Amino acid sequence: MKRGLFITFEGADGCGKTTQIKLLDKYLCSQRYTTLLTREPGARGLGEKLREILLNYEGEVSPMCESFLFLADRAQHVDCIIKPAIENGVYVLCDRHTDSTLAYQGYGRGLDIDRIKLLNNIAVNGLKPDLTIVFDIDIKTSLSRIGTKKDRMESAGIDFFNRVRAGYINIAKQEPDRVKIVDASDTIDNIHKKVVELVKQL
Ligand code: TMP
Repeated sequence: MKRGLFITFEGADGCGKTTQIKLLDKYLCSQRYTTLLTREPGARGLGEKLREILLNYEGEVSPMCESFLFLADRAQHVDCIIKPAIENGVYVLCDRHTDSTLAYQGYGRGLDIDRIKLLNNIAVNGLKPDLTIVFDIDIKTSLSRIGTKKDRMESAGIDFFNRVRAGYINIAKQEPDRVKIVDASDTIDNIHKKVVELVKQL
């Protein structure tokens, strides 16, 4: 069985990545690839329960506790869903993965970057995306797309999201072969074309 591919979609909340991942999924299905569209946190089962806590818990959550909950969701997701699918030749499209923890808990919350990298490595046990697309957009624009009803993470404030955005740009600079930045202020159609181009290059 030929190995599938693992493509992750990243960016600050409201960047439009979820629209784009669905469009890519549709495109790949039309080309007769077998795909799996999934997400972190909360792909299914236990992950959905962790997502509910992570996004809606109203009491105090320490940044390290928050990191471990995202990492717990990731370990379950990788072991039970992502790795088996890739081994079966499936193209796995994942809405957020390791770079979200680096950008949000590392750059955003201010936890030590090398520690987050180490914890990410433990959670994924050797898995690495073949391609990561970061959807980059001005934070005022992305936050205005979310509207007024915000979840726990979305309520973190503009300074936090500016750090997250800068974090993604840093990650892309450090791993230019894997991580590609796409201008998310363009039209949905143009962005989709760029995404397809990047996937074709794989
Ligand atoms: P989503 O709404 O794009 O599905 O993402 C859920 C939220 O969780 C979003 O605000 C980003 C945040 N998040 C982290 O802070 N760290 C992580 O590791 C992941 C996967 C998501």
